[in-house]
Amino acid sequence: MVEARCCFKLLYAIVVVVLLHMSSPCIGCSERDRQALLALKQGLVGDDGDRLLSWGREAQNKNCCQWEGVYCSSNQTGHVVKLDLGDQSLQGKISPKLVHLQHLEYLNLSFNNFGWSKIPDFIGSLSNLIYLDLSYANFGGQIPNQLGNLTHLQYLNLSSTSSSDIRPPPVNSIHAKNLNWLPNLSGLKHLDLSYTNLSDIVGWLEAVNMLPKLTNLILWRCKLPPPIISSVSLMNSSNSLVHVDLGLNNLNSSIFQWLSGTHTNLVYLDLSYNNFNGSSIPASFGNMSSLAHLSLYDSQLEGGIPNSFAKLCRLRELDLGVNSLSGQLSDFVETLSKCAQKTLESLDISFNNISGSLPDLTNFLSLKHLLLQDNNLSGRIPKSIGQMSKLETIGFGWNSLEGVISETHFSKLSKLSYLSLSSNSLLLNFSFDWIPPFQLQRIQLMSCKMWPSSFPKWLQTQKNYIWLDISDAGISDTIPSWFWDLSQKLEIMDISHNQMRGTVGNIRLEFTAGLNLSWNQLEGPIPSILSKASVLDLSHNNFSGAASFLCETKDSNLTLLDLSSNHVSGELPDCWIHFKKLVFLDLGNNYLFGKIPTTIGHLFSIKTLRLSNNRFVGELPSQLKNCTKLTLFDLGENNLSCSIPEWLGASLPNLGILILRGNQFYRSIPPQLCHLTRIQILDLSMNNISGTIPKCLNNLIVLAQKGNSSRIIQHSYTVQLEVSYTLDYEEEASLTWKGADISISDDEFL
Ligand SMILES: *[C@@H]1O[C@H](CO)[C@@H](O)[C@H](O)[C@H]1NC(C)=O
Ligand SMILES: *[C@@H]1O[C@H](CO)[C@@H](O)[C@H](O)[C@H]1NC(C)=O
Ligand SMILES: *[C@@H]1O[C@H](CO)[C@@H](O)[C@H](O)[C@H]1NC(C)=O
Ligand SMILES: *[C@@H]1O[C@H](CO)[C@@H](O)[C@H](O)[C@H]1NC(C)=O
Ligand SMILES: *[C@@H]1O[C@H](CO)[C@@H](O)[C@H](O)[C@H]1NC(C)=O
Ligand SMILES: *[C@@H]1O[C@H](CO)[C@@H](O)[C@H](O)[C@H]1NC(C)=O
Ligand SMILES: *[C@@H]1O[C@H](CO)[C@@H](O)[C@H](O)[C@H]1NC(C)=O
Ligand SMILES: *[C@@H]1O[C@H](CO)[C@@H](O)[C@H](O)[C@H]1NC(C)=O
Ligand SMILES: *[C@@H]1O[C@H](CO)[C@@H](O)[C@H](O)[C@H]1NC(C)=O
Ligand SMILES: *[C@@H]1O[C@H](CO)[C@@H](O)[C@H](O)[C@H]1NC(C)=O
Ligand SMILES: *[C@@H]1O[C@H](CO)[C@@H](O)[C@H](O)[C@H]1NC(C)=O
Ligand SMILES: *[C@@H]1O[C@H](CO)[C@@H](O)[C@H](O)[C@H]1NC(C)=O
Repeated sequence: MVEARCCFKLLYAIVVVVLLHMSSPCIGCSERDRQALLALKQGLVGDDGDRLLSWGREAQNKNCCQWEGVYCSSNQTGHVVKLDLGDQSLQGKISPKLVHLQHLEYLNLSFNNFGWSKIPDFIGSLSNLIYLDLSYANFGGQIPNQLGNLTHLQYLNLSSTSSSDIRPPPVNSIHAKNLNWLPNLSGLKHLDLSYTNLSDIVGWLEAVNMLPKLTNLILWRCKLPPPIISSVSLMNSSNSLVHVDLGLNNLNSSIFQWLSGTHTNLVYLDLSYNNFNGSSIPASFGNMSSLAHLSLYDSQLEGGIPNSFAKLCRLRELDLGVNSLSGQLSDFVETLSKCAQKTLESLDISFNNISGSLPDLTNFLSLKHLLLQDNNLSGRIPKSIGQMSKLETIGFGWNSLEGVISETHFSKLSKLSYLSLSSNSLLLNFSFDWIPPFQLQRIQLMSCKMWPSSFPKWLQTQKNYIWLDISDAGISDTIPSWFWDLSQKLEIMDISHNQMRGTVGNIRLEFTAGLNLSWNQLEGPIPSILSKASVLDLSHNNFSGAASFLCETKDSNLTLLDLSSNHVSGELPDCWIHFKKLVFLDLGNNYLFGKIPTTIGHLFSIKTLRLSNNRFVGELPSQLKNCTKLTLFDLGENNLSCSIPEWLGASLPNLGILILRGNQFYRSIPPQLCHLTRIQILDLSMNNISGTIPKCLNNLIVLAQKGNSSRIIQHSYTVQLEVSYTLDYEEEASLTWKGADISISDDEFL
């Protein structure tokens, strides 16, 4: 009975609350705040379905405290204290009426697009702000000094745009002429000005030093000038800092002095991509007893790691890659094993000059990532590595390691996903039916010799890899058909420089894929799916069939296509309109015939075009005039005829190598060829050219070295795929130099 009454009372209370709520919809939101929000909404445009558009739309919803992203101190007093409009695809202007929200403590406009407009000055009048997040919102211009009025601020994030680190910041990115306003924010704990331009601010360190409560300092890629260390900036070095990220700036080693203060709380320190110009890693870092993450990647450091690192008992990640560090690996390992051996999860010392052999690392109980590639390491890889069951990454490539790798090296590595042993002197000897404990994502075994030389059967157990490099592995075998049946999409496959036989199946490719099957004995037609790749090198095989497979792909993403030295036959298809991104095309040494199709003129990006050693006839299509980036043009050993076109000289100003040798070109050399001021090799030999050599050509031809019968011109093609894979291509051109007094004969001259 008592219980029932109680319940009734509760029910009554709820009904009253609900009624109250319905009968007075205005409760909770001050009219002034509501008007301010409506004005804000007015100035902003959003995408479809943007929640801002619903603000105040329904007549009964006048309580702005209930609008999405709006929060009030309490639903009774109705002051807006928090405005969370992050990631709403907002554009447009921020109304100055925003400052009417005088109780606002939290303002988040991040991940919107304000079109590089200046951060409004009036934000400085929101004097109660504690959080201000304007990150990734495409603000630009100078940081308003008025921010100095926000004396309650604890969190300031102006981290500017740039979805990727690689893209240069826009012209009008956020910048500052001074940071005089910064010391006013004496309660600031988090400061992030990443990607802003602070190149003018010599005294940035002094300004930062004046913030006694600062815990997180993030100034990534701010063009920070080297700090000038004065007694002042040392004296006030803040003890509060926990997380410091000053990567990708122009700092010099003076910053070490500042850091050598008393930063005992520092947990995270990133100084990567600066220029410490040959300094060594300061011993003082060993005093940062809380340090868990240290990155000094790509910063021109020399020497080894200081002994004081033996005191870093909480170190989890140590990233020293891409420097000029030297010394014995065993010394590094010994120092770190003193204290960090239980905590260290990631060690990257790749791309340095570290030598010695690989010590036993099994004491490093937490180690997941071990990156040692591109050093001078030698000797054998200890079998004990197979016991390190937490390992996910083994990066040992590009050293001088030797010996035999067997199953034992991997016996407990069930978490391994990245394996690089490329470019050592290793022999991989696994039993025929080996079932590895791991599923790899990246397999880099370039120039590791497989023993026996049959196709590695264990690859059949790997279902996740997107990167496979087994080039130059001494494999002499027919590729099994299961190899082409992938469930995953490949990004990189390099099986070149083996003696693999058989045909190519339909594989699954990312549209950024790079595929190198060159220098094998592969045969049969080329599956059209391959032309979906971004880089495709099938050269030096026995592929046959017609080149028409190319036309089955519309709007190809190919940047490099090399089909040279195969048995591809037929007429060249006329679908080059679909290859706008092609930079490198080599169809040389095949059985192509007929006329060169006119759409070849649509290869607007082409730099290297080789059609040599085929049976092309007729004249050069004048549409090639549009390929103005062409630097290497090789048509040697065909049956092309007519006169040498004048436009070769007039329209292709970048030509460095032009080879028309061994064709049926006749008439005289057009004087327009003298416009080819960048020409290094001009080979017109073995044609039917008559008349005199234009005098001006002598001036150009002098550029070619006399006496050398051949030379190599290096052209590097760096193909930056999403996975950053670099393919370098070298151009070779032979040159026949007949001495200074060139006489025109029917066949040979240069
Ligand atoms: C205001 O009311 C909303 C919904 O009615 C509720 O979710 C919110 O917690 C309330 N806020 C405060 C501060 O009481
Ligand atoms: C601001 O909003 C973004 C996007 O919703 C969110 O990721 C971020 O954490 C917010 N910032 C703060 C300081 O709460
Ligand atoms: C600043 O904002 C960016 C983007 O939202 C975020 O990645 C970063 O962690 C923020 N910085 C801090 C100190 O919270
Ligand atoms: C804000 O700061 C500027 C100078 O930076 C100052 O002139 C102005 O009076 C301040 N406004 C308020 C409201 O404190
Ligand atoms: C900093 O604060 C002082 C007073 O505390 C004020 O006089 C000065 O204008 C402020 N500076 C800026 C740039 O806001
Ligand atoms: C950075 O700012 C400096 C001076 O403020 C200016 O000279 C420089 O051009 C700016 N750089 C960029 C990329 O905006
Ligand atoms: C040190 O910082 C405090 C603020 O934390 C400031 O008041 C003081 O002037 C600074 N001292 C020097 C010498 O810069
Ligand atoms: C770093 O640069 C500053 C400013 O140019 C200079 O005063 C200082 O001597 C430099 N420090 C070193 C170690 O080169
Ligand atoms: C780097 O160091 C070398 C000698 O160690 C010195 O000659 C050079 O000026 C330094 N460069 C910079 C930018 O400090
Ligand atoms: C490390 O700290 C100790 C004790 O505070 C001090 O004596 C020593 O000089 C410091 N070492 C370095 C390299 O700063
Ligand atoms: C080319 O790349 C785009 C993405 O950049 C992709 O959508 C398209 O499908 C690719 N084309 C082909 C033929 O794979
Ligand atoms: C080739 O260039 C000429 C002039 O430079 C232009 O008129 C013509 O449209 C271009 N051809 C193609 C296929 O774009």
